Amino acid sequence: RFYSIIPAGGIGSRLWPLSRADAPKFLHDLTGSGSTLLRSTWDRLAPISGEQRIMVVTGRSHRAAVEKQLPELEDRNIVLEVEPKDSTAAIGLAAAILVRRQPDVIIGSFAADHVINDGRGFRRTVAEAVAAADAGYIATIGITPTEPAIGFGYIHTGDALTVDGAAHARAVRSFVEKPDYDTAVGYLETGDYVWNAGMFISRADVLLEEIGRNRPALLAGLQELADAWDDPVLRGPAVDRIWPGLEKIAIDYTVAEPAAAAGRLAVIPGDFDWDDVGDFAAIAKLHNGGRAGGLAVLGEHARVLADASSGVVVSGSDRVISLIGVQDIIVVDTPDALLVTTSQNAQRVKGVVDALKLSG
Ligand code: GDD
Ligand code: MG
Repeated sequence: RFYSIIPAGGIGSRLWPLSRADAPKFLHDLTGSGSTLLRSTWDRLAPISGEQRIMVVTGRSHRAAVEKQLPELEDRNIVLEVEPKDSTAAIGLAAAILVRRQPDVIIGSFAADHVINDGRGFRRTVAEAVAAADAGYIATIGITPTEPAIGFGYIHTGDALTVDGAAHARAVRSFVEKPDYDTAVGYLETGDYVWNAGMFISRADVLLEEIGRNRPALLAGLQELADAWDDPVLRGPAVDRIWPGLEKIAIDYTVAEPAAAAGRLAVIPGDFDWDDVGDFAAIAKLHNGGRAGGLAVLGEHARVLADASSGVVVSGSDRVISLIGVQDIIVVDTPDALLVTTSQNAQRVKGVVDALKLSG
């Protein structure tokens, strides 16, 4: 009964100029493992749902790259967007298509841009989430926070739930998407909050109902699209008519926050390592086992000469890159853009992208 959904569409602007609109974060190998984030996500999910039951929702322009990285992906399981409308539309449309194929289907949506190494722990946690979903909950996965990060959703955990097969499930008192820094500091002090791992597991009909409760117009659009989706004649006109008007909003606002308030959200503590690789400082840490000090080199044809230097070098051109006596440096070289900064400033990279957008 279980189907995996991989929404793959964010830009990952804090990883500019490696990650950009035409080659977003999930299409890259950020760990040096030889596998992109998308491919690793697929490999993690295949043992859980089976390769025939993984749906990927992505932009039209990423089709070729996605199909190349995932040759097993079946045609009926790729949903192509004309224009990104954020995660409610991406996950909601997949849910609406799947529920038409199988009314009692349980779906899990898993962000495409995370690093998880412990596959067994991941499978144990997802199995509990599926049990909670079967009991009617929208299940999330909680990660023990290590710092007052502002890029995550925060889950206020409540009492233990009694659910068969989900021994660690807890109620959720509230869900707050991306709080400001001071709020996040306060959350960490209580010890009662976990980060949202960006994964939602529920019955498809339960998820759609929740979207409809909070965003009736958006749900109506998604249902109309899904009605036409598996028909080659009807799909095109439906997309042209409905897509431009779909509200662009993350599922954390349309589902997680209101479902928590209504007592429909459950959380399973993640029994695995988890890293959302949000910026280049995170890449540096990943390559050095959590510590600063080493030099991570990414890029298939990288030619880097480093003397007494540490940090991250991403080579996306055929230039030789030479570093001498620089610490915690970040150099990202691509044919048309070069970034030089330090690990301490890695969070500020998004500002460059915003500035570039403003200047056209
Ligand atoms: N297909 C498609 N289309 N996918 C999208 C779109 C879109 O328009 N927008 C986002 N996605 C995908 C991303 O590729 C990613 O796999 C997932 O949806 C989450 O989107 P992000 O843009 O990466 O969200 P975030 O990182 O800011 O926040 C989410 O993840 C955090 C954990 O990494 C939230 O769920 C937070 O609560 C959570 O803590
Ligand atoms: Mg993300």
